[in-house]
Formats: sequence, structure tokens, C-alpha cells
Amino acid sequence: MSEVVKLQGSGIDRSKAPEPELGSGPITGERYYSKEFAHREFEQMWSKVWLIACLEDEVRSSGDYITCEIGRESILCVRGEDDKIRAFYNVCQHRGNRLVHNNQGNTASEFACAYHGWRYDTRGILKWVYCEEDFPQGSPCGKRNLIEIPCESWAGFVWYNLDPDAKPLRDYLSPVAEQLDCYAMERMHRTHWVTLEGDFNWKCVQDNFNESYHLPYVHAGVESILDEHYSNCQFDLYASGHCRMLMPGGGPNPNYPGSVDNVFQGLSQELSFWDLDPEPFRNDLAKLRMALQAQKRKLGKSKGYDFSRYTDEQLTDHYHYTVFPNLSFSMKPDGCIFLRGNPHPTDPEKCLFDMWYLTLFPEGATEYYAASQRDWVSVDYRAAHETGKVGEVSCGPGIDQDVSIWSSQQQGLRSRGFKGEYMAKQERRIRYFHETLDRYLGN
Ligand code: FES
Ligand SMILES: [Fe+2]
Repeated sequence: MSEVVKLQGSGIDRSKAPEPELGSGPITGERYYSKEFAHREFEQMWSKVWLIACLEDEVRSSGDYITCEIGRESILCVRGEDDKIRAFYNVCQHRGNRLVHNNQGNTASEFACAYHGWRYDTRGILKWVYCEEDFPQGSPCGKRNLIEIPCESWAGFVWYNLDPDAKPLRDYLSPVAEQLDCYAMERMHRTHWVTLEGDFNWKCVQDNFNESYHLPYVHAGVESILDEHYSNCQFDLYASGHCRMLMPGGGPNPNYPGSVDNVFQGLSQELSFWDLDPEPFRNDLAKLRMALQAQKRKLGKSKGYDFSRYTDEQLTDHYHYTVFPNLSFSMKPDGCIFLRGNPHPTDPEKCLFDMWYLTLFPEGATEYYAASQRDWVSVDYRAAHETGKVGEVSCGPGIDQDVSIWSSQQQGLRSRGFKGEYMAKQERRIRYFHETLDRYLGN
């Protein structure tokens, strides 16, 4: 890789994290289908980690609320009249009815339970009950409030944690949060929003985004526009359990055996947006990446971008973060691919897979070419939520290729003929992920 170019006081530090010691025991199929294992995951892991509820943008006004699910739990997030966003178990404290059934909405000031009419304000305080004088144990008002859980914001996302003693979000996310701060993700808009239900365990998703070994096979041809070979990539396994991958983009491996026209074709959209003629690099593709970096540096401002907070590598390369347990942030200079495998509430062989594209619109722009949409979109555009089963809704050609493999893998993981994986060193983030999970489970 080229030498580190670190801008003064900005950009992502590329220092390599020390390699942790990893075990070598088999990662067997049982953890991908066992109900007992899924139950332990919920009790000992999902109930202890920071998870994303929604975008702050979805609860931007007082009274705006959303509900989201983790396992069998439903969580209610609402912005109060004091502008604070809070998270609660979505459970009425009278006799346990689920309080809110909408995915999102705005309440003028309160949530009323459909069963006996108890009313809670946006701080979760029980304000009114029918026949208040008829409770020999005293009025429940102000006493039987909604159960609040830790809730914080970072990078334009609202996060929650079922653990009342959770450490602060930024501590949990370290060092990912401090690295990603330079992207100003809170300014990005969601221009693509898909949730798919598929027949695979949520860990198939996280495993997949924890390795790039599959690229030439699942995404055939992609090697013409990036250098996926492990010898030129950097993998960081952080003590916090999160990981990072740095992969050169803006052109192929220097020893790429394919046609140069394929390279130019693969990069054509980007090259044309940045007014870069690739022909001078036909016989020296190694220089194309740096030329693209220089061009973005030169034209960024005129196209509305502020790249001053990025290093040159951030302008072309793939900065891919996997956040434990189930998130990936794949960073681009003008946006982020957000990927998440959520466990199905009851069936470990099903998953709810989310793909969002978050677009950073150039300053002053009224519209922008969103690569994931393959179309120009207005800055006011907010993607509608597309949902369906795998095959019914598209996440875009690249991610669709990933999705298509997971059901097939789940079938094999369930087979008596699978005795555990046999992984390459470059797949070690997967092992680290499972070892982190095992630590939560006390294995
Ligand atoms: S269960 Fe909600 S008011 Fe009775
Ligand atoms: Fe992939």
C-alpha cells in the first residue's frame, strides 16, 4: 500500500492494531441453528450490547417515536418535549400489554394503552389511569412508569442497551467511533432502506462481512476495481471486539491479469464524475489510484465536498468496519453502506437483514447521484422502507450477491456432513467475532 498520508489533525489513523491470540477450535454448525444457543445469545449477549434503534432523523421533533425489535423485545424510542431521546421497553406496566404497535409516528404528548387506557407521557411517566381512586395499594401514577433503558446518540444513530449498567456508548464503540467521526455521518441521509427476511442465521451475515476472501467468487469481476488480495489489505482486530479492514480501491492489484478496458469500465462512473481521463494510465494502473486521489483533492471543494478531514487513502480505498455484534459500516468519501443482521425473534434459522445507504450530499447541492440508487436523488429525498423476503426486494447488485449465498450456507451448516470450518488466516476476523461472542456467553 502507498505510504500513510495523514493530514494535520484529521483523517483516520491507519496504525495496525496488535494481533490478538486466537484459538483454533472448530466453529461448528450448531451455533447457527440451535434454539438453545440462540436463547443464550439473547440472555447473555444481546441484552448487554449497544444496538441501533433508528436514525436521529426519524425522531427529530418532539413526540416523534419509533419502535424496534431485538429478539422478542420491542423497544420504544421517543423524543420528549425537553428534546431528549429516551428508550423504554414497549410494555404497559398495568398488565403487560404491548403499548405501541406502530413502527413510527408522532404523539402529541402521550401514549395510551389500548387495553385499559393507562396514559404515559414522552418521559415514560404514568400520568393518568382510569378509576385512579380504586387502587388500594395507592395510585400507580408517577409510580408504575415505563421501564427506561440506556439510550445515546452517535453519528446520527440512536442507540440503546438493555443493560441498565451499560458502559457509555463511545467507550463501547472505541476505537471505531473516534475513527469514523471524520465522516460527519450525522449529516448523511438514508437514500436506500431495505429489510429482507432470509433463511439463515444472523451470524452468516456478520461472518460474511468479516472476510473479503469471497470477493473474486461471489462478486466476480470486482477485482478489476479494487485490490482484494490479502497481502495488500490490513486487518485490525481491536480489543473491544470490533474490527477494521483497509483495502486499496481506485484500481486493481498491480499484477491484475485482466483487461484494462474492464478496469476503466468498472470505474467509469467515478472517473467521469471526477473528470479524470484514465487513458494515460493504461500501461501503469498502479498510478491510477493516486491520480484519482489527487483529482478528488483538487476538485472536491468545487463539487461541494469537504475532504479536508480525510487522508488520501480515504478518498479511494475501502474502510470497512464490523462493530460487534451485528453491524458493518463500509465507508465511502460520500456516504456509507450500513449492513446489519438482526436475529429473528423465534427462529435461529431466520434473519432480518438490513441494508441502508447513507448519502453525504455535497454542500449546497439540491440533488446528487446516489450510486446505490443508480439515479439522481434530491437532498430532501428519504428512502421508503422496502421489505420482503430474499429475492423479492433488491439491495443493489453487489449486496444481492452476498445475500444469495447465505441461505445456501445455512443449509450446509445444518448438515451432519459439516464438521466445522477450515479458515484461512485472512478470515481471522470471523474467528475473533465468534470468540468475542463466546466471551459474552461464558464459553
Ligand atoms: S394493560 Fe395497559 S392499561 Fe391495562
Ligand atoms: Fe461480499
